Amino acid sequence: MPALAPPPSTEHPLPAVLSLIGNTPLVEITRLDTGPCQLFVKLENQNPTGSIKDRVALAMIEAAERDGRLQPGGTVIEATAGNTGLGLALVAAAKGYRALLVIPDKMSQEKISHVRALGAEVRLTRSDVGRGHPEYYQDIAARLATEIPGAFYVNQFSNPANPLAHETSTGPEIWDQTGHDVDAIVCGVGSSGTLSGLSRFFERTQPDLEMVLADPDGSILTPFLKNGVLGQAGSWAVEGIGEDFIPDIADLSRVKAAYTITDEESFAVARELLRKEGILGGSSTGTLLAAALRYCREQTRPKRVVTFICDSGNKYLSKMYNDFWMAEQGFIRRTTQGDLRDLILHRYEAGEVISIGPDDTLGTAFKRMRGADVSQLPVVDSGGHVVGILDESDILVKVHADTDHFRALVHSAMTDRLETLSPSSGIDDLLGVFDRGRVAIVMDADRFLGLITRSDLLSYLRLQFA
Ligand SMILES: Cc1ncc(COP(=O)(O)O)c(C=O)c1O
Repeated sequence: MPALAPPPSTEHPLPAVLSLIGNTPLVEITRLDTGPCQLFVKLENQNPTGSIKDRVALAMIEAAERDGRLQPGGTVIEATAGNTGLGLALVAAAKGYRALLVIPDKMSQEKISHVRALGAEVRLTRSDVGRGHPEYYQDIAARLATEIPGAFYVNQFSNPANPLAHETSTGPEIWDQTGHDVDAIVCGVGSSGTLSGLSRFFERTQPDLEMVLADPDGSILTPFLKNGVLGQAGSWAVEGIGEDFIPDIADLSRVKAAYTITDEESFAVARELLRKEGILGGSSTGTLLAAALRYCREQTRPKRVVTFICDSGNKYLSKMYNDFWMAEQGFIRRTTQGDLRDLILHRYEAGEVISIGPDDTLGTAFKRMRGADVSQLPVVDSGGHVVGILDESDILVKVHADTDHFRALVHSAMTDRLETLSPSSGIDDLLGVFDRGRVAIVMDADRFLGLITRSDLLSYLRLQFA
């Protein structure tokens, strides 16, 4: 008698969390201007790792198990912008596989920490190189898969289980949740799994439905769809969507309209979604919603439109939802004064400066530096006057011989020879301060305005250059 495959183990059932993938809620947008249309968003951020990619991660791993490409003890390898990696890391851990992920370095630290915390191994690689370059993330993943025995290269860009997951789950869910009444779906394209799978499902179910592409400025897809030209990709900061090539699985034939959305608009719309509707979406959610709102407002008759909250904004709290990051990147424009005040990122009078008191301990100062990810603190007395600057080397000098000195007071270690500049000082004055190894303290007479560091000047110059 042929050996039978062992029955599924009841001793170690799969974690219940896998059964929470998919079946996400659909809610209506009520506080944004949708023109004559009704706009609904599907909350894919409610999947277990917080993105739409959990669906395809489960589907691609189970397809590989079924056809034998993934065996017990195997390694799941993928090139991923983060979210697919999170889904794969979750499913691989649940099913006992090793996960090895190649991730471009522009991806948010939150995603990278999350995949590592799920037990996956991460290879970070460059975001600024394209296909064919030895450090291109997809080429690295393909290479690793040939080198590691028992490796399964998921390759979401060519894997038919990816669009199939949307054809068999996301599509039917939208159809049911809209009561079989939907006119358009607005999608981004990363691997194109969502768009291709939904296109296939609705081709059979509701052939008049319009697929609408939301594409970051810099992606080649919208120019390709509009004039058939495969151009050179630019760069964009929105994560997870936009392409520099046409994926093998892409079926763009049902796309009826395409919108190019800048990073600036994507971030602004995602932030507005949170303030007005209370929905914390990721950066690509801003792109999709911006395109969906444009589409809705352009319509001349009422339509029912669906788009996605593709991933959770939790992953972008230190970027898109952080005003300082937004200002540093030039996405929030502050009123300019035409002097050194324009280079101050954290303004003292707005309560934005992390400082320390002269009578606090060095231990407290160090914890505050680490917590805020800064390497120096202005020392401000109870009257609001800057009396010194404390940096990591000041602390080190004090504590290296005797760690008890973490209890010493800040004033015993700080530098009190201050490099102050007035707002009307020039860049040359600033460079002089940096040459002396210091940070500049900007004072308007005796009013402390804020610090300027080398990295503030670099960010400022980069924006002027851009
Ligand atoms: C963050 C993010 N990841 C992935 C996707 C889906 O991309 P695809 O199914 O084309 O890989 C989207 C789609 O909007 C997205 O916003």
